[in-house]
Amino acid sequence: MRLNEEKVFKDPVHGYIYVSDPLIWDLINTREMQRLRRIRQLGTSYVTYPGGEHSRFSHSLGVYEVVRQIVQAFARNAYDWPSEVNLLVMASGLLHDIGHAPFSHALEKVIGLRHEVWSERIILDPSTEVHQVLAAHSPGMAEDVAAIIGKTHPNKLAVSLVSGQLDADRLDYLMRDSIYTGVDYGKFDLARIIRVMRPHGGRIVVKRSGLHTVEAYLLARYFMYWQVYFHPVSRSAEVILKAILKRAQDLAGAGREPERTHFALTALFEGRLTMASYCALDDTVLFNAFNVWQYGPDQILADLCRRFLDRRLFTYVDAPPTDSAVYELMAGRVRAAGYDPHYYLAVDETGTVYYDYYLGAAGDLKGDSALFLWDEASQQLTEMSSLSEPIKAIAQEKQALRRLYFPEDVPAP
Ligand code: NI
Repeated sequence: MRLNEEKVFKDPVHGYIYVSDPLIWDLINTREMQRLRRIRQLGTSYVTYPGGEHSRFSHSLGVYEVVRQIVQAFARNAYDWPSEVNLLVMASGLLHDIGHAPFSHALEKVIGLRHEVWSERIILDPSTEVHQVLAAHSPGMAEDVAAIIGKTHPNKLAVSLVSGQLDADRLDYLMRDSIYTGVDYGKFDLARIIRVMRPHGGRIVVKRSGLHTVEAYLLARYFMYWQVYFHPVSRSAEVILKAILKRAQDLAGAGREPERTHFALTALFEGRLTMASYCALDDTVLFNAFNVWQYGPDQILADLCRRFLDRRLFTYVDAPPTDSAVYELMAGRVRAAGYDPHYYLAVDETGTVYYDYYLGAAGDLKGDSALFLWDEASQQLTEMSSLSEPIKAIAQEKQALRRLYFPEDVPAP
């Protein structure tokens, strides 16, 4: 079934996003999808990159569009692709971030559950509009979408299109985050990547001549981690956000809950989040709470909220020694400056692997996240890093960052 008239969104990343299927259109118009308009894609990155204000909603539409373009390219080329899963993977791409919390990583610690778990719950819970739309489309559709997003679906090819080394999610967010932040070296040739991708033997591979296009994509990811995702100033805002949530939770635990601003926050601090309260959480709920608490009676909470809102962030030192001596020294200085180190001193650790692959002991092709290049002439699959020096240089190297954050008026170690 198709819509009578195709729906079109204007989009700075893809030009246009086309919707011709009623299921996709109905999913876009659910409450749970619309909530994503009120959650920033990049959490606290806007404190560093003023352009980085785009929403999870625009990213989700973008992932849907990338999946749509890929399956259309597969169909045009008559590749061995099961076209009956087209709608399933497009819906899964659209819904893959449906369970995201505001400022996800900071909040996930308080919630104690990763957003992927909430994505599956929202899709499977009969009370949500997303579930109702999927169930009305066909029995088992909601379960199939949840399985694609949870990577448990038996069709591994379909799963890898939504989450893999070269998936629609990464293809959209790298381009989108790069364009909105203005960090140009995060860009790559998306149209050509789609053109050189193809299903082969149950996995997505890349045509041999697409080597440099995929190199550019993996290097773009490397640059974006350094320039945007690990940026020390954005991380500082996240450190303060975590301190706010810790203070609010400590106060609530001591029977001194800060002024109640929203039932979802109360439910969060009391550890009794329901589907309804989880889906009520968005950036505006947190910003409003911080805005109210900055005038509240608790001096620590008020100060942390003002720091977050007015962007008076903590400073940091890179790679402090891992022994406890520096931490103890700084805890003393933080205390001497009149701050409680529990909230005003933090070690921030983060890291990633830019190209993670595992080929198994025998170097076989089982590696889940390895990228393979297909050579038509020799009918051979070759793992990417063995053909590319730059990729070999960043492959499997774990980039680990460790920084110590504290207020600016505390003397650095
Ligand atoms: Ni995503």
